[in-house]
Amino acid sequence: MSRTDSFDVLIIGSGAAGLSLALRLDPRLSVALVSKRELTEGSTLYAQGGISAVLAANDSVESHVQDTLGAGAGLCDRRIVRLVVEQGPEAIRWLLDQGVRFTRDEGADEAGGYHLTREGGHSHRRVIHAADSTGRELETTLEGRVRERPKLRLFEHHIAVDLISTRKLGQGNGRCVGAYLLDRKSGQVGTYRARFVVLATGGASKVYLYTSNPDVATGDGIAMAWRAGCRVANMEFMQFHPTCLYHAQAKSFLITEALRGEGARLLLPNGERFMARFDERAELAPRDIVARAIDHEMKRLGIDCVHLDISHRPADFVVSHFPTIHARCLELGIDITREPIPVVPAAHYTCGGVMVDERARTDLAGLYAVGETAYTGLHGANRMASNSLLECLVFSALAARDIEAAAERWAAPPEAPAWDESRVAEPDEDVVVSHNWDELRRFMWDYVGIVRTNKRLQRARRRVELLRQEIIEYYSNYRVSNDLLELRNLVEVADLIVQSALRRRESRGLHYTLSFPRRDPSQRTPTVLIPDGYQPRGRG
Ligand code: FAD
Ligand code: SIN
Repeated sequence: MSRTDSFDVLIIGSGAAGLSLALRLDPRLSVALVSKRELTEGSTLYAQGGISAVLAANDSVESHVQDTLGAGAGLCDRRIVRLVVEQGPEAIRWLLDQGVRFTRDEGADEAGGYHLTREGGHSHRRVIHAADSTGRELETTLEGRVRERPKLRLFEHHIAVDLISTRKLGQGNGRCVGAYLLDRKSGQVGTYRARFVVLATGGASKVYLYTSNPDVATGDGIAMAWRAGCRVANMEFMQFHPTCLYHAQAKSFLITEALRGEGARLLLPNGERFMARFDERAELAPRDIVARAIDHEMKRLGIDCVHLDISHRPADFVVSHFPTIHARCLELGIDITREPIPVVPAAHYTCGGVMVDERARTDLAGLYAVGETAYTGLHGANRMASNSLLECLVFSALAARDIEAAAERWAAPPEAPAWDESRVAEPDEDVVVSHNWDELRRFMWDYVGIVRTNKRLQRARRRVELLRQEIIEYYSNYRVSNDLLELRNLVEVADLIVQSALRRRESRGLHYTLSFPRRDPSQRTPTVLIPDGYQPRGRG
């Protein structure tokens, strides 16, 4: 017998967005929190630089708004930018109340005595942080809080397969009423009904061969929402972080932008500084500019990496501000207090996602999306550093408020059929999954990366289509597994990225194409993809 259960709120994902939403909700609501692996595994855990918020006396909401709009290259939703920036200080106060410990600067009398660092695109010091492991401090503190909640049920090692909607059940037009979850340990798929479902599933950077993201970042929420009839936006704007460690034994290890904020310089192998040739802000230009400059220099000189050097700062400063990076590099034989760090760009952040309104509501009634999986309008064509954790915190608070306000009015979800496995077989060729997984990520890197052309995008499109057919067929015939589900979602997301990139016939922010190398003011609108059978949001 497969498992069934019912809750007020089903939250899929337990990073900054999912955990803070769970904690913001009224504790009387029955809440299920689902995580593909251990509760803490996700991008949040690895966040280094910090969280941006207007905390210093010489800073202002207006300045944070303007910097965000500048990085977003004309595509941010101004209303949302202001909404998020204004809520920043409250979000930080809430984290402090939960017990998050940020790095202090006893000498500073402003910002409550906390140290604020600087990152690309920010005109002020406004990034509050816990040394260089802000995400770990945030994630583990909130995890502790969540585990104390008696009415909160945790489903670790469960992966959501698909959403259940009244439309799919043939019972109405569109309300989300739950999700099917695969228990990765038992291999059983259960039916989990809920009055409200929240996607907090993070980004999709695993669609690329090289990424700063952990393995769970496979765009599941975006793919599930798309299949359930929700619009997605701005998927062409995949962000590449300029500086990931380049070392044979280091998988996905980021070298925080805060290093550059504290004076680190980017160097060519001959020791030459090169960023000033690309932007007057040099190393502190927004990420899209720095990543493209590095990519350009690597291709021009045929080199495998560039170098990031902070060895001119005092060693005790470097070690106390960047203990995680210092320790990890030292394990690999690099002493960052004495020598430069080899770095390369890698896929880092999904600026687009499931379209939501200012209450985090998607197109499907009862379905919300928060965090990296959502498209709110905050980031436009390029996210400014440390605005992501801020967005997770602000939008999960907004979603919690909306769910609470609606909770009394919303009926219990209808019965839903059990997962049907009667017509599928045990998978006989796992190589299909592993081969397609590698192939997809490699051609996305080669054809849909930092610099694009129409020809490369068309090539990618043909390959995505072939893989998609093969994977759908495999999915229809064989019992589901974690890897198959992730691959099915990745190919869906790859398709959305390529489609969106082909639609944008200009270069803007993170989307740079040699076929249309200039910005075109007439294309100053988000790229919105509409799924088959899309219907505007109803009451369900
Ligand atoms: P995540 O933290 O990625 O969590 C996603 C959750 O969803 C996980 O629990 C996962 O298991 C779960 N999940 C996914 N799919 C499923 C499924 N199908 N079923 C069940 N569960 C599922 N941003 C900043 O603002 N400041 C920083 O300093 C910063 N540094 C970063 C450093 C690194 C190395 C990386 C990778 C990112 C960084 N970012 C930073 C970006 C930021 O960390 C992320 O955007 C943010 O943490 C995303 O939070 P989230 O809650 O949306 O998703
Ligand atoms: C970093 O620390 O460089 C990452 C910050 C971010 O992605 O916002």
